[in-house]
Amino acid sequence: MDQARSSEPGQVPAVNGGNGNRAPKDEKGINRVEEEKLRSLGLFARKVAHDFNNILGGILGYASFMKTIVKEDDSIYRYVDIIESSAIRGSKLTKKLLDFGRGEEPEPKTIEINGVVEEAFSQAVGDLGDKINVEKSLDEGLPKINADRDQLIRVFSSIIENAVEAMADGGDIRVQSGMAGDSEICVTISDTGEGIEALNLDAVFDPLFTTREKGRGFGLSIACRMIKNHGGRIDLESEPGKGTILKVFLPVK
Ligand SMILES: Nc1ncnc2c1ncn2[C@@H]1O[C@H](COP(=O)(O)OP(=O)(O)O)[C@@H](O)[C@H]1O
Ligand SMILES: [Mg+2]
Repeated sequence: MDQARSSEPGQVPAVNGGNGNRAPKDEKGINRVEEEKLRSLGLFARKVAHDFNNILGGILGYASFMKTIVKEDDSIYRYVDIIESSAIRGSKLTKKLLDFGRGEEPEPKTIEINGVVEEAFSQAVGDLGDKINVEKSLDEGLPKINADRDQLIRVFSSIIENAVEAMADGGDIRVQSGMAGDSEICVTISDTGEGIEALNLDAVFDPLFTTREKGRGFGLSIACRMIKNHGGRIDLESEPGKGTILKVFLPVK
């Protein structure tokens, strides 16, 4: 692949992406202005998400209740079904907003990375359809790591989701786990999708950056922050028309 980015502070900083590259950084390579912007945006996102969650809870509750009293062959049933599935989509989005707003600190436990990857794939089964082929090559001898299992499942689910969205006509997802040197585990997820334009390589890690009609631009910004909070980093390589490779590095403690 001819284009690459890394989210590691000090290297090409993808965490804050875009113009962040040109702004001054502190000794850790963190752009303070961008951090402050992210924090304000996070606070705002959390407040909005909280209110929306309550509103959607009401809509979802009543839609589900109506489905129990309207017969399936009734013409109204279809509309109630649409209300319910739209409210579920809304809830998923507010969950992402909440994640983004919270900027959660990880709650680490001793975990096994392959199980996390398997779980993320099994949660994505419905999205994979039958045009996407998944090849796994997981190193069974990897050491356990100290990490927040739920957060990592969310990270890998976002990456898989993006890979699926990039392959509207189908393709291959390859996932590999292994050691990278003595002190890091690396999980590589590659797809044969549409790839990312060079111009957007930094921006994909920005909150709100999306090129998808139904996208919201939170997936990679949250994933990146979660991995950073684990002391890791995400590397990205992509070639338009060929595909994308994401490498998630996590320290072995
Ligand atoms: N595997 C991929 N292949 C192609 N483009 C990708 C891939 N992953 C991410 N992107 C690009 O990065 C953008 C941001 O991704 P993300 O933060 O998950 O937000 P969203 O999925 O809501 O758009 C996507 O809209 C897409 O343009
Ligand atoms: Mg996404």
